[in-house]
Amino acid sequence: MTNQTAPYIPALRFDWLTPLYDPVLKWGMQEDRFKQQLIAQAAIDPHMRVLDLGCGTGTLTLLLAQTHPQARLHGLDGDSAVLDIAVAKARGSGVEITWTQGLSFSLPYLDNTFQRVTASLMLHHLNREQKRRTLREVWRVLSPGGELHIVDFGPPHTPLTFWVSRITRHLEETADNLDGLLPAFLAESGFAETAETDHLTTFVGPLSLYRAVKADRAG
Ligand SMILES: C[S@@+](CC[C@H](N)C(=O)[O-])C[C@H]1O[C@@H](n2cnc3c(N)ncnc32)[C@H](O)[C@@H]1O
Repeated sequence: MTNQTAPYIPALRFDWLTPLYDPVLKWGMQEDRFKQQLIAQAAIDPHMRVLDLGCGTGTLTLLLAQTHPQARLHGLDGDSAVLDIAVAKARGSGVEITWTQGLSFSLPYLDNTFQRVTASLMLHHLNREQKRRTLREVWRVLSPGGELHIVDFGPPHTPLTFWVSRITRHLEETADNLDGLLPAFLAESGFAETAETDHLTTFVGPLSLYRAVKADRAG
């Protein structure tokens, strides 16, 4: 891993597992269903500037670009190894994406740059302080009226996901997600509207989708 700022958790926790990330997500988590749902929820208009935060190997970024070819897509990740995979996947796909290596809690963008930010399975890689700093940074780089769309581990809604989440909470930094704290962190970071919009079950635990809006100054 190329980052100076510890702690940092790569895509599958250990660098040597990174090449297995795409097969695990595709076959193990059936990523297509929740990534397509997140794209639909984000309601992206042509020419919007969109940031895929913690883009990893770029699967969601590419789907976003293919679904919205007129949008200006940016993918940011802290890990150069996953970005190399993302760049290779995008090459020859006919879509244009700007890839940037950077850290979510110190984003290399000006205020009010993006109309949409997506964050798929990345917030549970951050400890509580990093989550809060990241959400404040996302609020800063969103333009007024802009929206953050998240899919990540969330509180269990069924007895099955409750029991699975007893194990999941020991993985990475998932505990705050499973305890349902993301909406509170979003509100503390300045977002005006925050909502859990849906939830689903995977073999590694419960996922939730969230939508959060940066209030329009005029509104
Ligand atoms: C589980 S992967 C998710 C990748 C992709 N969004 C997806 O849905 O497949 C989490 C990603 O977040 C990245 N990441 C973790 N901490 C980060 C940080 N502080 N800033 C930027 N990226 C980070 C990791 O390198 C990894 O690629």
